[in-house]
Order: sequence, then structure tokens, then C-alpha cells
Amino acid sequence: MAEYFFMPPMSITGAGALKSAGDEMVAEGYGKALIVTDEVLHRKVRATKVLMDMLTKLSIEYAVYDRVTPNPTVAEVQAGAQMLKAEDCDFIISFGGGSPHDCAKGIGIVANNGGSIRDYAGVNRMKTKMLPMFAVNTTSGTGSEMTRFAIITDEEQQSKFPVVDWRCTPSVSVDDPELMVGMPPGLTAATGMDALSHAIEAYVSTAATPLTNPGALHAMQLVVKSLPTAYKDGKNEQARSDLTYAEFLAGMAFNNASLGYVHAMSHQVGGVYHNLAHGAINAVLMPYVEAYNAKAVPDRFIDIANAMGAKDRNLSAEQAVDYVLTKIRALNQELNIPSTLAELGVEESAIPHMAANALNDPCCLTNPRQVSSVQEMENLFRQALHGN
Ligand SMILES: [Fe+2]
Repeated sequence: MAEYFFMPPMSITGAGALKSAGDEMVAEGYGKALIVTDEVLHRKVRATKVLMDMLTKLSIEYAVYDRVTPNPTVAEVQAGAQMLKAEDCDFIISFGGGSPHDCAKGIGIVANNGGSIRDYAGVNRMKTKMLPMFAVNTTSGTGSEMTRFAIITDEEQQSKFPVVDWRCTPSVSVDDPELMVGMPPGLTAATGMDALSHAIEAYVSTAATPLTNPGALHAMQLVVKSLPTAYKDGKNEQARSDLTYAEFLAGMAFNNASLGYVHAMSHQVGGVYHNLAHGAINAVLMPYVEAYNAKAVPDRFIDIANAMGAKDRNLSAEQAVDYVLTKIRALNQELNIPSTLAELGVEESAIPHMAANALNDPCCLTNPRQVSSVQEMENLFRQALHGN
């Protein structure tokens, strides 16, 4: 079967990446950028200053849309698209973590395709490529700066829908670890576990290929090695650099192998409980979902255990599954992430709604084990809710 592999046309990684991205903006001859970011980064910690100063120096005009929330909504995409039009911007710079990137993709899609971002829910629904976009990443987890996925919250339906289309892959992804040293520990933990969940879901995915597997395994190795260090010491340059590569490699893997039930379920939890961090929800769900998946693909867990640092290289599949689940739980504990959805504030009453919506999420398609009924999906939610 023919396989596709999707990547941004250009990716710039490492210290000094932002400056190099500026040179590329000049080379492309862009006139005015819409910077898409959030209020905390723009007004509170003023992290956007370095970008704005650079643009001024390069004589590139800009307008700032800073109304992106942690789970970007249809209305935020619409407001950003209106601003882009009013300000006559010819390209987009997203600045932040997954939320600004996803919202910026939505804005770029609507700018070039018209209508509402709801029209593009699903796979390959766009007619034309989105507006050129530089995705400047300030966290190391979501991979959104380099993927063809945008996750948008539908406030009316209380759910999230993914837009999956190679036409909304950012033109240039920018991963500069110098922009990530300021990440607080909680965000470092959640985004790092998000990257781990991308790597594991991509590796056990039914769409995994020899092109996606090496990146997934190496990402797992780097997360295990450096996430606890970066959590305790955010200024540790080696740990930040490792996590930057980990999230990018995991992004390469899931951008092509897709994801599974952790994300299908997590999107729905986030759709109802807007203030919960995506990565933290994934971290909680992972041991339950992978215990469920291990029944279908136990052998895949031997490689995962090795990547996650198993000393004994001759583990049986059963021992490997046990090692991986124990390791994920230990990481969660070390990072002060709870072990159940109930501890995150999720309620039993939300489960039927979340389970039904999870089954409509395209991430379900590539999970290695499929539920046979909505009740089975509800049970998986209940296990994660109560911890059994
Ligand atoms: Fe994710």
C-alpha cells in the first residue's frame, strides 16, 4: 500500500532558530504578520517582545491577536480571521504552545478557504492551502508547530473536533529551546507527557511504518531521560534541548501514524472541562488505555520498554507491558500528575457524553484495539475515572 509522509516544507530547530526564521521571512518578502498568541505570553510575561523586536528590526509590520485560550474555540478562530482581514496581513506567525498554533491554523484555513472552521472538521476537507504560517514553539509537547492537525473546541456541542489536512501544515516550524527555558514546571510536565503519549500512540498505531517508528522510539527515550530533569530544573539546557527534539520526533511520528484512544478520549475530557491541560489528561489516561491496548499488541511493548530504559533487554511481552505501565505511573508521580480522572475533577455524569463523542474522533481509527460498543468505551473512561 502506498504511504504518505507529511512534514513542514522547512523546520528550524536549535538555539538561534527564531533569528533564522526572521531571515526566512525576509527572504520570502512578507509584508505584514498576524501574530497569534495568548494573553499570558503577550501581556503578562511579555514573551512576544523578542519576536516583535525582531520584526521591527527586519521592517516587517505586524498586528497581534492575543485572545487564544488553552482550548481554542470556533469563535476565537473567527475573531482572528476577521482581524487578519482588517489588518491586511499576508502571513501568520503563531507564538506559543499547541493552542496558538491550532488557532492560527484555523485562521489561516478560513482566510484562504472561507466559511467557518467547522466546515473543515474531519480529514482533507480543505480546497486550498492555508495562508503561509511560521509556527514559533514555546513549549515542548504538542508537536502542533509541525503537524497537519488542528484541534478546535466547539463551544455549542461541548466537544472538540480535529481538522486533519496536509494543507494546514505550517510552512516553517521553529523550535528554539531558548524560548522554552521559561516554561513553569507544571507546563513542562504536561507538555512532556503529551509528547510521550504521541510517541507511544504512534508506535502502537495501526498506521505505524518504518518511517514513523524510529522517531517514536527515540522520542520515548529522550522524554524518559530528560523530562524529570527539566521539571526540576527548567534552566537545564541539555534537558530542554532533549525535550525539544523529543516533541519534534514524536510529532513526526504521529503526524503520519496518527494517534489512538488516549487522544480520542482526552479531546472529549478537554471539550467538557476547558481548564484541564491536554497533556495532563493524556498522562492520566495513558496507563489505562495502554493496558487495554497491550492485550492486542503485546509485542510492541518490548521495544517501548527498551526505549523507556528497561535494563533487562530480554523481557517477555508480558514483562515489557508491566514495565511500561509501571514506568508511566512512576513518571506521573514524579511530575505530580494525578493517577485518576476523578482527581482532575472529572465527573461520572459526563462519561456517556464523552464516550459517544470519543468514538467519532478520527484518532480512534488507528487505535490497535477497537471497542465493540459505546458501553466498552464508557467502561474505559470509568476505569480511568476511578483507577481500577
Ligand atoms: Fe497531544
